[in-house]
Amino acid sequence: MEYTREQYEASARVIRKRLGGFVPKVAMVLGSGLGYLGDEVENPIIIDYRDIPNFKVSTAPGHKGRLVFGRLEGQNVAVMQGRMHHYEGYSYEAVSYAVRVLRLLGCDTLIVTNAAGCVNTEWKAGDLMLITDQIKMFSESPLRGENLPEFGVRFPDASHLYTPRLQELARQTAAERGIPLREGVYFYCYGPQYETPAEIRAARLLGGDAVGMSTAPEVIVAGHCGMEVLGLTLLSNMAAGILDQPLSEQEVLDAAEAAKEKFSGLVRACLRNMEP
Ligand code: HPA
Repeated sequence: MEYTREQYEASARVIRKRLGGFVPKVAMVLGSGLGYLGDEVENPIIIDYRDIPNFKVSTAPGHKGRLVFGRLEGQNVAVMQGRMHHYEGYSYEAVSYAVRVLRLLGCDTLIVTNAAGCVNTEWKAGDLMLITDQIKMFSESPLRGENLPEFGVRFPDASHLYTPRLQELARQTAAERGIPLREGVYFYCYGPQYETPAEIRAARLLGGDAVGMSTAPEVIVAGHCGMEVLGLTLLSNMAAGILDQPLSEQEVLDAAEAAKEKFSGLVRACLRNMEP
């Protein structure tokens, strides 16, 4: 165990002081190229990760490294502009540290977004996917080490990490807006190298529809501490070996830019349709 209950509380205390009575309800972790949603928060209170004890700084491209608190589509939100990744050298516990802090601050819902490679050959790059489940069985758990019972039990159930009610809300919201929404399983790979074609074939055989280097640790931690989770993926590229072309970060960022309106429109509409 890397962090104590006191450390989580110390981080929450520093943030709470800045919030002046504002209580966030929906935590949002925004992935590659999607952090702009944080710029649309009304009456924002912005806190840099470096000003919060024990927070790591995100070094990935397109990740700003700050928390934005305020109102978005009628909800009290806490937007993480920039997430931490295991490939940056951080432990899974460090990567998901902020989720527990946001839980202590009052968040009971987590919305995660990411860009991921499309493993499902029936789909295409640029499609959006509702995450219905995840596979992260080849790397250690963010819950490894002594359990902190204040957050949850030692052996948490993971049958519904992605809350069925919120999945249904996203389905209906997408349908209302005429946005096609795929549904599938997010297969976590820790990177930073993109996968080999053989790894993608393996991921497909095992039931993965999308492959990415984020999200799964934070969702495990959110489930452990009883948060409801909604996960949305932008399939930014066809996964390795599907097309005869190399993968690049630029392709991912370009796809995120191109999907910006569709993706942020869906996320905002989901927020609007959630109970206040
Ligand atoms: N693989 C892993 N992570 C990713 C990919 C990919 O193809 N695209 C965007 N993030």
